[in-house]
Amino acid sequence: MNALRVAVFGVTGRMGHCLVRAIAESPEFRLVGALAAPGVPELGRDAGEAVGLGRRFDVPVVADRSAAVAGAEVVVDFTLAAAMPANLEACVAHGCGLVLGTTGLEPPHHAALDAAAARIPLIQAANTSLGVNLLAKLVRQAAAALPPGYDIEIVEAHHRHKVDAPSGTALKLGESAAAGRGGTLAELSAGVRGREPGARAEGGIGFAVVRGGDIVGDHTVIYAGPGERIELAHRAHDRMTFAWGALRAARWLAGRKPGRYTMDNVLGLA
Ligand SMILES: NC(=O)c1ccc[n+]([C@@H]2O[C@H](COP(=O)([O-])OP(=O)(O)OC[C@H]3O[C@@H](n4cnc5c(N)ncnc54)[C@H](OP(=O)(O)O)[C@@H]3O)[C@@H](O)[C@H]2O)c1
Repeated sequence: MNALRVAVFGVTGRMGHCLVRAIAESPEFRLVGALAAPGVPELGRDAGEAVGLGRRFDVPVVADRSAAVAGAEVVVDFTLAAAMPANLEACVAHGCGLVLGTTGLEPPHHAALDAAAARIPLIQAANTSLGVNLLAKLVRQAAAALPPGYDIEIVEAHHRHKVDAPSGTALKLGESAAAGRGGTLAELSAGVRGREPGARAEGGIGFAVVRGGDIVGDHTVIYAGPGERIELAHRAHDRMTFAWGALRAARWLAGRKPGRYTMDNVLGLA
């Protein structure tokens, strides 16, 4: 099998480091591009050295998207929502597939992804781990099976650096729970608990957020009913799980026809 040519966008970030490490560990992938934000001190350095791997890829860290994407079959992008439109444009201009892990996306970002999917194959995933994508299936099933008297609350915890809240994964789990109840999260979301006074209304899906330390990512979906409580939980111990999942998605995506695919397609859960 030929090694898949991958460009990593956001190479100097926490996920960027994991992706470069995962690529270095597998003969299935070859790093061909490394994008960082303009002005960072790593610009011009070899990507392997820039992330402290102690080996060279002969791939410099650059801030020029065209240079980073040239030669790549798939871009793996874990940056910030603000950088996403220009990153997407570079992928479309080069006819390159995209695995987008960045969270905090708004409706205009999703509209841009829908439009780009006519030109390139892409996967946008708030969480690229196998476990969370399986959890989303179970959450939907449980929400469909239990009567509305079982109140659904989603609790998530992340490290102190995370900027968006609730997490993209919590929102994804909320969408799954809402779909199980025959609605959408926009219709059923009760928002983040504690912001409004008053008793809990039936049928709403509430969120609670914890931020601190180096928590990689915990998500628990609670179904609190009369006299009992069910909890479906996922705990990520190592950020590498997201990198392995994203690369698995990149491998699956390469050579596909243009379209918007999901981790369910990649993992055979669709
Ligand atoms: N899908 C998943 O499974 C999953 C898992 C973990 C994290 N995430 C998401 O992935 C994103 C990154 O997470 P992280 O923990 O790696 O965050 P991070 O450490 O802050 O990394 C983000 C990186 O992107 C860089 N960046 C910002 N603007 C850029 C631009 N215009 N061009 C190129 N690079 C740019 C940042 O550079 P500066 O520091 O210089 O700004 C930083 O190096 C977040 O949205 C996070 O929620 C998703």
